[in-house]
Amino acid sequence: MTMTRLVVATGNAGKLREMQAYLADLGWELTLKPEELEVEETGDTFAANACLKASQVALATGNWAIADDSGLQIDALGGAPGVYSARYGKTDSERIARVLRELDNQTSRQAQFVCAVAIARPDGAIALQSEGVCRGEILESPRGNGGFGYDPIFYVPEKKLTFAEMTPDLKRSISHRGKAIEALIPQLAILQQISGK
Ligand code: IMP
Repeated sequence: MTMTRLVVATGNAGKLREMQAYLADLGWELTLKPEELEVEETGDTFAANACLKASQVALATGNWAIADDSGLQIDALGGAPGVYSARYGKTDSERIARVLRELDNQTSRQAQFVCAVAIARPDGAIALQSEGVCRGEILESPRGNGGFGYDPIFYVPEKKLTFAEMTPDLKRSISHRGKAIEALIPQLAILQQISGK
């Protein structure tokens, strides 16, 4: 059976690392999105942006494409930074510093990571969608060196660890992205068989 190409529609190195690990061994030939292909995230929900990215990358490359749109929602900030998580500052440390500043003097530090995943056919039509959520708390200062983005300030009480202190496998088993992709794996295996014929 031929392996069908699946373009991973992200330019974020941290996300890419996780998605490649989660999608390995499913029978797809994973390739990266061409660097010059940038999709503007004009949607106001994670799902809308994931669909936009998957559709446009599929259409532009003529291949199946998978996209993730994700972010951090903080209860005391009314769900901010939300879909603006990547645009909340210029670097990861600036984004973390801004969140910590905005939460200064806040007693409620509850938050969640959300991840929407969409898979598009080569004609741009959305074939599969899913969403994963992981609840946690925002610490007062960063802890740990692993992961990416807001991981050092996102603490999961059940594990007594931040995302940045977890092994990749532990993060996968409880994270928003791990859950969103896990939910798609049975359908992805079926799609791979259909598309490879
Ligand atoms: P976007 O989906 O490209 O709009 O970017 C999502 C942004 O949310 C990333 O740039 C990170 O700042 C943040 N983010 C999403 N998932 C994670 C995660 O697993 N850990 C830490 N930060 C994340």
